[in-house]
Amino acid sequence: MTDYGADLLWVLILASLGFSAFAVFFSISRQRRSHPPAVIHPAGEDVAAEAARKVIREFEKNGQSVDAALVTWSPETLRKILADDLPDAQVIVVSNREPYIHNSKDDGIELLVPASGLVSALEPITRACAGTWIAYGGGTADRLTVDKDDRVQVPPGNPSYTLRRVWLTEEEHQGYYLGFANEGLWPLCHIAFTRPIFRASDWEAYEAVNRKFADTVVAEARNERPIVLVQDYHFALLPRMIRERLPEAIVITFWHIPWPNSEVYSICPWRERILEGLLGSSIIGFHTQFHANNFTESVDRFLESRIERADAAISYGGQTTLVHAYPISIEWPAELLAKLPDVDASRASLRERFGLKADVKLCVGVERLDYTKGILDRFQALEELFIKHPEWVGKLVLLQIAAPSRGTLPAYKQLHDECHRYAEELNQRYGSEGYRPVVMVAEHHSQEQVYEIYRAADICMVTSLHDGMNLVAKEFVAARDDEQGVLLLSTFAGASRELLEALIVNPYDPAMMGEALLQALTMTPDEQRQRMRPMREMVRNNNVYRWAGSMLLDAARLRKRGDVDRATGTADRPPGIDNVVSMFERKRVAMS
Ligand code: G6P
Repeated sequence: MTDYGADLLWVLILASLGFSAFAVFFSISRQRRSHPPAVIHPAGEDVAAEAARKVIREFEKNGQSVDAALVTWSPETLRKILADDLPDAQVIVVSNREPYIHNSKDDGIELLVPASGLVSALEPITRACAGTWIAYGGGTADRLTVDKDDRVQVPPGNPSYTLRRVWLTEEEHQGYYLGFANEGLWPLCHIAFTRPIFRASDWEAYEAVNRKFADTVVAEARNERPIVLVQDYHFALLPRMIRERLPEAIVITFWHIPWPNSEVYSICPWRERILEGLLGSSIIGFHTQFHANNFTESVDRFLESRIERADAAISYGGQTTLVHAYPISIEWPAELLAKLPDVDASRASLRERFGLKADVKLCVGVERLDYTKGILDRFQALEELFIKHPEWVGKLVLLQIAAPSRGTLPAYKQLHDECHRYAEELNQRYGSEGYRPVVMVAEHHSQEQVYEIYRAADICMVTSLHDGMNLVAKEFVAARDDEQGVLLLSTFAGASRELLEALIVNPYDPAMMGEALLQALTMTPDEQRQRMRPMREMVRNNNVYRWAGSMLLDAARLRKRGDVDRATGTADRPPGIDNVVSMFERKRVAMS
């Protein structure tokens, strides 16, 4: 065998060993429940397998079983990955929405944790990494609570990371956030039949604000090689801006909303610029493979690029970006649940608060008041049920928690009015003395309050017309340590790919949703348990630390390969086995 052949064989054996170890790691969880493994990347097995082995060894050293390692993706696991695989790396998170908002009130300053899936997922991660979180300071008392460098240590009372606030003018906020992000990109990416609005002035503001955030990232970076976690559709241009100024940074961009097919995407007047901006990332993550594929198709159609589908990699302008699915999740709420009253007490207090009789079933919806969430469709399903099965009139209440959101935009104002009008109509049509079938509370609720509501509910309705993931669905099952309650889940929410035991519904079909409601109302406690148990196990195993850990492991792999490339003086190449082989060839040349 030639030297080249021996090396190739060796590489293949190592690759397959790495893959086997990783497969064993995940197969145990698959035996317990049949769902796709969280993240197994064709090109990522080596580092991932090694990290998994390390975690398992660590647990075994402490006398814990491998099974414990599987269910315990924790802050500790993340810190270990950072210490072992990305030593000295500074983690910087960038998002529009800040995790803590300070607002002025008559009696002082109020602290608000916003209703945002992004915030609930990223907050525990940033805490674990002791990182820096850069975000728009939108609270009315935000300027009063920062130091001279616009920083504040959070969480308040028990600080573990730095929040760096960025200030925007009224015009910037209007054009970048309300305009381009929320009237342009948001409806563009969601199939909810709300027409996107594109204005040149909004685009200019979007570009300027992305640049402002890039300046802040550079200012906050302690060295040339931070790991920057860019969040969401507010920052499509930021990855390239960071790459230009900090070429050695690892930029991981996570797009928290769906990515449309290339035909829909083509209507965006700045479609090439957005793709170019995003391809400044080292890794781009989506919730589902479907959205990752849509993105790759859009690049294929609008940019001159090289796409390595088998490696999930795109090379553009001399740089390679990995495009992967990383299904986001939640922190398993053990501590939170320990603080809450038990399920019976939660039920009793909520029923008292809303005046519900003992024989009335409670169905809940919890979200921002947004036209993608299918709130009106849910009301229609209730009406279908009442028409077809009138025996449920008087026996079911839908409690709709709707956190105010983007309320100055016409589409949101209209939705607000329509929801209130329809709720009122239903209450007049089907209500009676002491009974209102729809209770709509358009107010912000804290995490504790929301979990109490989940625990008091018989049914939770997640009927999004389109949703990247939807963490309410995961929170609901996590809240139910009594293994009771039924989840109705839209097939158009990413969560439906993982929570297979939910009652999966099409929100565009009110008759079908009405029947699903009936099925939920009449489901035996035993069936509820049989469905709830595997969903809880799924969320518990695939928690948010595993989501972040998968991305960090991929980042570590990229960094190591980049370091080898630099050491051997070789240019950037797409990942994959051929690249590993050429890496071996290059090393040999360098050594000879
Ligand atoms: C979605 C977006 C997040 C955003 C959240 C709340 O989940 O993906 O980026 O933070 O909505 O929206 P808001 O506009 O209030 O920040």
